[in-house]
Amino acid sequence: MRNPIRRTPRLLLACTAFAAGLALCAGFIVFVAGPSSLVRRAAVGGPFSLTDENGRTFTDQDLKGKPFLVFFGFVRCPVVCPTTLFEMSAVLHALGPDADRAAGIMITLDPERDTPELLKDYIGSFDAPMHALTGTAEEIARVARTYRVYYRKVPLGGDDYTVDHSAVVYLMDKQGRFVAPFNVKRTPETAAADLRRYF
Ligand code: NI
Repeated sequence: MRNPIRRTPRLLLACTAFAAGLALCAGFIVFVAGPSSLVRRAAVGGPFSLTDENGRTFTDQDLKGKPFLVFFGFVRCPVVCPTTLFEMSAVLHALGPDADRAAGIMITLDPERDTPELLKDYIGSFDAPMHALTGTAEEIARVARTYRVYYRKVPLGGDDYTVDHSAVVYLMDKQGRFVAPFNVKRTPETAAADLRRYF
């Protein structure tokens, strides 16, 4: 027979976890989109002009007509960036022959070190073709601001530093409008099916 008293802590724990989850979600939405976006979603993202991994100008217009995923990171990031980009590439890969009907974009938060050459090697190491964009410090700051990305250089001693940053994958529709944060922590097939809805 089950002891009802022993179930209480578990229920309490579940409730606490649920409440914490809700608070986190609310905080996350406000963080990503800003309070005003509860009314106006379009406040995330927007026009940009950066430099791609081939050293060419790349703008939001190059993405018109296809939904795309955007992630901000940097090449030297030890864990979060490579993991997230791997997951993103797996989603695009899972689109199979439709892969070119969507796009994956990485925007560097370390423009000082992430040259187009370095980005080309880096982004080319993932399963699916993606673009990696850089720009001047000002250009990167501007695009990060429009996406409400937090990032900060953290000194590691000497000339070395790392970059602390938020790690959201943004789903943008084929008009370049923000849809929602995109969950890459699920099977690539499930995530790809979700992405297909925006073709
Ligand atoms: Ni990172």
